Amino acid sequence: MLDVQNTAQPTVTRREDYVAPAWLVPEIALDFDLSPGETRVRAELSVERNGDSSGPLRLDGDALVPAAVRVDGADAEWRMEDGALLIDLPGDSHRVETEVVIAPERNTQLMGLYASGGNLCTQCEAQGFRRITFFPDRPDVLTRYRVRMAADKARYPVLLSNGDPVGSGELENGRHWAEWHDPYPKPSYLFALVAGDLAANRATFTTQSGREVTLAIWVRERDLPKTDHALESLKRAMAWDEQVYGREYDLDVFNIVAVDDFNFGAMENKGLNIFNSRYILADPDTATDHDYDAIAAVVAHEYFHNWSGNRITCRDWFQLSLKEGFTVYRDQKFSADQGSAAVKRIEDVRTLRAAQFPEDAGPLAHPVRPDSYIEISNFYTATIYNKGAELIGMMATILGPEKFRAATDLYFTRFDGTAATCEDFVACMEEAGGIDLTQFRLWYSQAGTPRVTASVTHEAGSGRAALNLRQGVPPTPGQPDKAPMLLPLKVKLFGAESGREIAPEQLVLLSDSEAEIAFEGVGERPVASINRGFSAPVIVETDRSAADLGFLSGHDDDPFARYEAMQQLMLDTLVESVARGRGDHAPVIDAVRHTLHDPDLDKAFIAEAVLLPSDSFVGDQMPVVDPEAIFRAREALRRDLGRELEADWREAYEAARANRFEYSPAAKGARRLKNVALGYINASGAPDAASLAFVQFESADNMTDRQGALATLASGTSEKRVAALDIFYNRYSDNALVLDKWFTTQALSSRDDTPQAVEALAKHKDFSLANPNRARSLIGAFSMNQRAFHHDSGSGYRFVADQIIALDKLNPQTAAKLLPPLGRWRRFDENRGERMRSELERIVATPGLSKDVFEQASKSLD
Ligand code: PHE
Ligand code: ZN
Repeated sequence: MLDVQNTAQPTVTRREDYVAPAWLVPEIALDFDLSPGETRVRAELSVERNGDSSGPLRLDGDALVPAAVRVDGADAEWRMEDGALLIDLPGDSHRVETEVVIAPERNTQLMGLYASGGNLCTQCEAQGFRRITFFPDRPDVLTRYRVRMAADKARYPVLLSNGDPVGSGELENGRHWAEWHDPYPKPSYLFALVAGDLAANRATFTTQSGREVTLAIWVRERDLPKTDHALESLKRAMAWDEQVYGREYDLDVFNIVAVDDFNFGAMENKGLNIFNSRYILADPDTATDHDYDAIAAVVAHEYFHNWSGNRITCRDWFQLSLKEGFTVYRDQKFSADQGSAAVKRIEDVRTLRAAQFPEDAGPLAHPVRPDSYIEISNFYTATIYNKGAELIGMMATILGPEKFRAATDLYFTRFDGTAATCEDFVACMEEAGGIDLTQFRLWYSQAGTPRVTASVTHEAGSGRAALNLRQGVPPTPGQPDKAPMLLPLKVKLFGAESGREIAPEQLVLLSDSEAEIAFEGVGERPVASINRGFSAPVIVETDRSAADLGFLSGHDDDPFARYEAMQQLMLDTLVESVARGRGDHAPVIDAVRHTLHDPDLDKAFIAEAVLLPSDSFVGDQMPVVDPEAIFRAREALRRDLGRELEADWREAYEAARANRFEYSPAAKGARRLKNVALGYINASGAPDAASLAFVQFESADNMTDRQGALATLASGTSEKRVAALDIFYNRYSDNALVLDKWFTTQALSSRDDTPQAVEALAKHKDFSLANPNRARSLIGAFSMNQRAFHHDSGSGYRFVADQIIALDKLNPQTAAKLLPPLGRWRRFDENRGERMRSELERIVATPGLSKDVFEQASKSLD
């Protein structure tokens, strides 16, 4: 049964309506009689009235039918309301028993208890627990769980749940049972169970206080060899959290299970993390360097949640960034400590600009702490996660490292075992930092990316210089007028002629809409380096010339600022080319040449710095996006960079060509630069470019090189393209994660026929909307391909809308995630905008639409 909700009157949940729960549930005993077609769930809740609250016990349910309801051992009166079970209780504490039957194998939403690859697993965040049993499914109800599972032993030899195992045994008919107990009270969204035929890669970790923890990563037996990197990453994350935050793990076992069907990346269930297998499985032949890095980051992220999320959870879902923003901040710093911090910062800012800035500038813009939602799963956004992380980073910058650590210590101590708010976190920062963050709090309530305009004035005679800063936040839905924010901006001045430092780096706390920072004794014209390290998540506009940007890209002593100057130079050049049909490529070519030959730079940094901004980021700079013109301008600049610097690219390429695979920061950097160079050699139009790529494709001893070469070929016209795609497909046809790459590579191709190719791929026998990774690998990737998706025929819009409507019937959450690119219609010309809008209207008018997709589509039309 598909319980797609009726969207006639979707209810809006508001932050200001929060009321504490009327009933608490200190204990629960769950008993699962597991089987894929029919699983019986018995729950025994000890419930207690919260203070002197009145009203019935309300147990949320989603598509559940009570088979039995008992209070203190006797059959009880009950009623249903919006799927919830309501019971009037006379006293202050009772024992409530319920029984339901659910069908995991028919659960295509992948929320609640579902089947994946022959195993059974759960996903409860945010509101999946109510699809398993009746319960007050809200994060401020903290409960101790005892879980008993019974299942067929041959089919499900491994039975896992949260906490520690406390017993197991045999049953009749080939069945067996296991019982787990989690001593830490937790909200229902952190419940998990897994029943499956799984093998473990095990290790032990000794915590700083000397406790031994058994770590295990559970996968299909044949995937065991691909779990070492995840296990190693887990150990590093555990040690890092002790060193950097003083946080120690608190149970005797830590289990991770990888499943192929998963709506998100991974889930931090207490003691039993469940992962999308793409964030666990890796070996050099099947995973790219990017995959390896992502695995380490996600394993760390979920582990860090044990403190920032589980020990301290969220009072309500409006506080989601309390755990997600902070935990992303923590995983970003962890990754920075594993290799090049500068390159990591560049990658994080690139992600923010690609995913969060457009969100903040579009119809789905919302504050880091939203005020209302229709469907909470729509709020697992780049704003909550990545902008939320930037907020923590700004507070860390303002406080400095010692006070920031004191503040997190205070937060962890004070709120341990509770459900807290963003406000609680900021109050700890204020208290331990000895500062007033009143104005800073606007970052939590005001949506939209602040814009800072910076200009420098200089009087040669008096030696006086000034940096003039202005700020403003654009209007966003429901927030027409904004107050100025507190912006921590790291700035520094250089001399335009000498290149010397004129004024050392300083942290400017811009709090007014305008400010002037004065400098004395400035003998030469100054060039400003602003928002160094990307100290604030803002858009900076300056009047710096191409010459000044070229200079900073070669000489700024902050690596992020160097990258940023190069990006700005490239952007200015591309925007100008789009506007005028041609631009002056020489300053970019000079700056790239200089960077390629700077002996002080590592290869990973060079590779990032010389990459052109994406089509869509160029589009974000323009009042009306012209996808074709942007594509042509960018291709022309790529071709000129390829031609003018061909010898340099070949040199860079040759330097790394014969490397054997190794997973180290230096080896990764060399591979990255090699593949960037291959792209430029190809862009140059050199006659041997395709065969160079094909040789790399065939001889690669790792997926980074193989996929890098494939991507180059897939965007070209060489007859080697089809051969390479076929070889790749055949070689990896039994590996779902690599087949995802095969689909994605084609969806991202810059060829003219990509829209038709993608429509054909949607009919390929290996394509399926039922698996979220596969759906995203084709549909999600295609909608990121600006030129192909925005083909002026509107074919891309129609195709994506069809897929969203089809997927919504199976999996509303994942369908809704594919919608935002269609919602950006105001950014395009009338023809495109009109076609996008009419697809949104078609989606909204679809009968039986989920509230997930309804919310995204209707808000995009407003
Ligand atoms: N809480 C998970 C994380 O960020 C994300 C998630 C949300 C996973 C909802 C599944 C469902 O780590
Ligand atoms: Zn998280």
